Amino acid sequence: MTKPLISIEALARRYPKHGGGETTVFQDVWLPIRKGEFVCLIGHSGCGKTTILNVLAGLDQPSAGVVIVDGREISGPSLDRAVIFQGHSLLPWMTVMQNVAFAVTSRRPDWRKDKVRAHCQKYIDVVHLTGSEHKKPAELSGGMKQRVGIARALAIEPKMLLMDEPFSALDALTRGSLQDEVRRICTATEQTVFMITHDIDEAMLLADRIVLMTNGPEAKIAEIVENTLPKDRQRTDIHKHANYYALRNHLLDFLVTRSKTFASEIGAKGYDPRHPPVVRPGAKPTAVETEPPKAASA
Ligand SMILES: Nc1ncnc2c1ncn2[C@@H]1O[C@H](COP(=O)(O)OP(=O)(O)O)[C@@H](O)[C@H]1O
Ligand SMILES: [Mg+2]
Repeated sequence: MTKPLISIEALARRYPKHGGGETTVFQDVWLPIRKGEFVCLIGHSGCGKTTILNVLAGLDQPSAGVVIVDGREISGPSLDRAVIFQGHSLLPWMTVMQNVAFAVTSRRPDWRKDKVRAHCQKYIDVVHLTGSEHKKPAELSGGMKQRVGIARALAIEPKMLLMDEPFSALDALTRGSLQDEVRRICTATEQTVFMITHDIDEAMLLADRIVLMTNGPEAKIAEIVENTLPKDRQRTDIHKHANYYALRNHLLDFLVTRSKTFASEIGAKGYDPRHPPVVRPGAKPTAVETEPPKAASA
């Protein structure tokens, strides 16, 4: 792998237990993320996904380990890392334009008002909210509010976009169209993304790599699944690809069974948390995994 943009190294989070001792939510989490990569994190509730995202955002401190962004250890929140939360988290007294502009002005305090406005307008257009600039959150549907959140996060042009189940509160139709938009925008702008989801289909559509976490406590990265579907996949034809079922079944099987049993599996196989197994469901084994070709005899 080329030098990663983000490097999660030996991350752990522990909490004191009632009556003494401590619980380790997750430990020994190592993950490098390349620039422009879209990474999805999947795991059952309670395994520490939100905590990891909060650490990446600089909103929470790990009990051990570090996060390095662009060669520097992070030490708090930064406009380099924008977060899209599960709820929309807009300022209710501000219009759509003002909500986006507020973030942009924090990032670019030297920009003139008209420059900020033009910049915000570009991202409001991108999420198809043109014409709703002057509306306040109360006048918007759930999907529209989430779009404002996306526009706001993209408008600050962060090094990394962090999303915690951003579409989970939306109806299926809105969720689908927003996923398409996020995919289109992130591909076009080569945005680096770290996203938590519990939706396998969402991960298969959006992610380049899907990181699977075992159940907590003491959760860890079980596997890294490379998306074996073509890069130009579309929601409408994704299921027609030869690798679709292999990939989907692998992810499903992990969530249903292996997320619980993985901890006992690794005892037998050996496991290096710095290099969790990488799997490519449905793909032909790469040259590294196959026997070296026999030298042709003369
Ligand atoms: N302040 C806290 N004190 C004790 N335990 C906590 C605290 N915050 C979170 N936890 C525990 O950490 C675990 C992981 O939480 P979270 O990161 O929200 O998981 P996920 O997003 O995967 O559902 C949960 O089991 C939760 O009970
Ligand atoms: Mg969570």
